[in-house]
This record gives sequence, structure tokens and C-alpha cells, in this order.
Amino acid sequence: MTESFDRGGTGSSKWARAGRGRIALGLADMDLPGPPAVGAALAARARHPAYGYTVADPGAPRLVADWYRRRHGAAVDEDWVLCLPCGPRTAMRLLLDAVPPEVRGRTAVAAAPEWGGFAGICAAAGLPFASVPLGRADDPFGLPPAGFAALRPGVLLVSSPHNPTGRLRTADEIRALASLAAAEEGLLISDEVHADLVHPDHGLRHPVAVATADPAAAHRTVTVGSVGKTFNTSGIPSCWLLVPDAGLRARIRERAAGYGIWEGGLLEQIVQRAALEEGAGWLDGLLLHLAAARDLALAALGPAVLARPQASYLLWLDGAALGLPPERAREEAMTERDVELADGADFGAPRPGLLRLNFALPLPVLEDALHRLTCA
Ligand SMILES: Cc1ncc(COP(=O)(O)O)c(C=O)c1O
Repeated sequence: MTESFDRGGTGSSKWARAGRGRIALGLADMDLPGPPAVGAALAARARHPAYGYTVADPGAPRLVADWYRRRHGAAVDEDWVLCLPCGPRTAMRLLLDAVPPEVRGRTAVAAAPEWGGFAGICAAAGLPFASVPLGRADDPFGLPPAGFAALRPGVLLVSSPHNPTGRLRTADEIRALASLAAAEEGLLISDEVHADLVHPDHGLRHPVAVATADPAAAHRTVTVGSVGKTFNTSGIPSCWLLVPDAGLRARIRERAAGYGIWEGGLLEQIVQRAALEEGAGWLDGLLLHLAAARDLALAALGPAVLARPQASYLLWLDGAALGLPPERAREEAMTERDVELADGADFGAPRPGLLRLNFALPLPVLEDALHRLTCA
């Protein structure tokens, strides 16, 4: 895709966090240039000096529904689509605020390890939160519906595909959680912001919760989607929620308006439209690159890899297998090997010393990073 990508002078959070002289493998964005169509659309719009309040693009819900049909073969009703000028994290917070009190008062449950944001968002929204260990007898990284059910949850949270392992969730797993949410008169929140990044050798598609759940349970699901991870545009926050329940949709709109968050927004609408309308070819190329980068990383890291990723650009690692002391794995990777990774503790890892590595890099940079990490 590219031999190098210099983010110097752009204020990249990922590289700021890594510090000078280190290769940044921590935060979840890509060191790869995004689709040219997005840059061209932003530049074209910027040439007109009217930057005032902007109406919501009336065609955006159709654009999103068409994307699901084309990329995932999923039937999404335009009416379900709520486009928001904020990132997925903020949107999920608004969503939790809008959940009815009888659901909010019960335990919100996610598996662990899981994207760490869920616990934080639930705490900020005042929901009691608990996690259940990921894994079943037949699959150490499978979702455990029985563990969820035992807690009689109000809200169930899942990242699908899974962050930090990059594992795909199966339609059966999603269906089971949606049915449990319906049986408990609660809500399944399926965070699918990595969903467009399913690797070519895993079929490119994934089960979109709202279209996968049994029809009787679909109104008890909310699917979170975004162009941010797919097209590497998270610095211009935007996302959408697929909300089949009209009442919940109205309450989310009301909550958002209370914060002055309207459905329109200047830059993020430009980005989203250009990405969804013109970015598919670029995305196909990106996925080939990610599969090649994944294979490089798997070959170099061998038994340190705990789960072979099927989507996205994240790798769940055992630092001890790389000779990193469990209590100081991230620190020692920084100080002794000049690479920065994410600490597994941030994802509720079952033991110390686990790490998450982001392999979305130009291949020569990834090779350098893997060499540093493995040559103690
Ligand atoms: C699964 C998942 N959900 C949500 C987010 C949050 O995205 P943002 O911080 O852009 O809102 C991330 C970011 O890494 C993520 O990986």
C-alpha cells in the first residue's frame, strides 16, 4: 500500500503516546494513508469559505443502508439509521443515557477481555457494570452466553469483530445474545466499528447484529457503525447507530439535542459520504495489505500470538512468550525494545503481561517493529 507514512507534525495521539525513538503499535488507528476520495472531498469543500451551521445530509441514511447491503449483504432499514457528528464512544454514552430506567438499573455486562471503553462508558452513565470471562469449552475466545445469562443483564455489550483479538463473532453467538437481551427485556449493544475490516480469507462479511438477530429480538439490539476505523478518519469523529426501536431512537435524538449534538455536522458528513460512495476500491486494497501484515506478524511472533485475527489490525499477545516480564511487559517493551504496545490490563486481561499490537503499518516499518520486539 505504501513503503512509509510520516505522521510527524500532525499531532498523532498514537505517536505522541509512544514517545521519541519508538515505533507506535498501541492505539487503534492506521499508519496508512486514507482514501484519496476523502482528501479530495474535504479539499473541495474547504475551498468554499462558508463554514456555518449545516443541515443533516438527508441522503446519509440511504447511503449507510446501501453500504450494508453491498458490503455485508445485510438488510438495514433507512429509518433505523441515526448519523451522529461524534465518535462511537460518545454515541454509546448518549445511547446509554437514553435507555429506559428499568433497563439502566440492572447490570450492564460485557465479556473480558473486551474493548476497555465499555466499562468506562457504563461508569460515566451510572450503570452498574460487570464482566464475565470470555471463552467456552469449545473455544477460548468464544462468547459465553451462559455467563451473560447468569447475571440477568439489562444491557449486553459486545465488540464484533472483537477488540482486542480481531476474532469474528458468529451469527449464532450474536443471535444468542440478542435473544437473551429480548428475554430480559434489555438491550444488546453490538459495537461493529471494525466490521468492514474482515480479512479477505475470512469472507469480508460479518453478522450485522440488527440483521442477524431473530426478528422478534431485533428491536432489542442497537448496532454501532462508523467510517472511522475502516477509512482511518477517527480524527474527524462520526458514527451511526442502527436503532430499530422508534421510541429509543427518539430518546437518543432528544438526549443528543440536549448536548447540542444535532445530526448535521460539516466535516464528518463530507468524509462519510466520500468514504461510503467512493472508498470501496481503496478498502479492498487495504484489506489485502492488512492480511499481508497479519501474516508477517504471525510468522514473526509465533506462539506469543494468543488468537489469530480474522478482522481488523489488532493482535492479542502474551508478552512472556517474547521474554517480557509479566508485571512490566509494556514498560519493558518501551524501554528495552523501543516499541509501544497497549497494555492488556486496559482490556480486562485475565492475567498480567498480555499486550495488544496494532499491525496496520507500512510493511517495512512493521518488519522493523517485529524485529525490535523479537530480538531481545
Ligand atoms: C471496538 C471499539 N469501539 C469504540 C471505539 C471508540 O472509538 P472513538 O474513540 O473514536 O469514539 C474503539 C476505538 O478504538 C473501538 O475499538
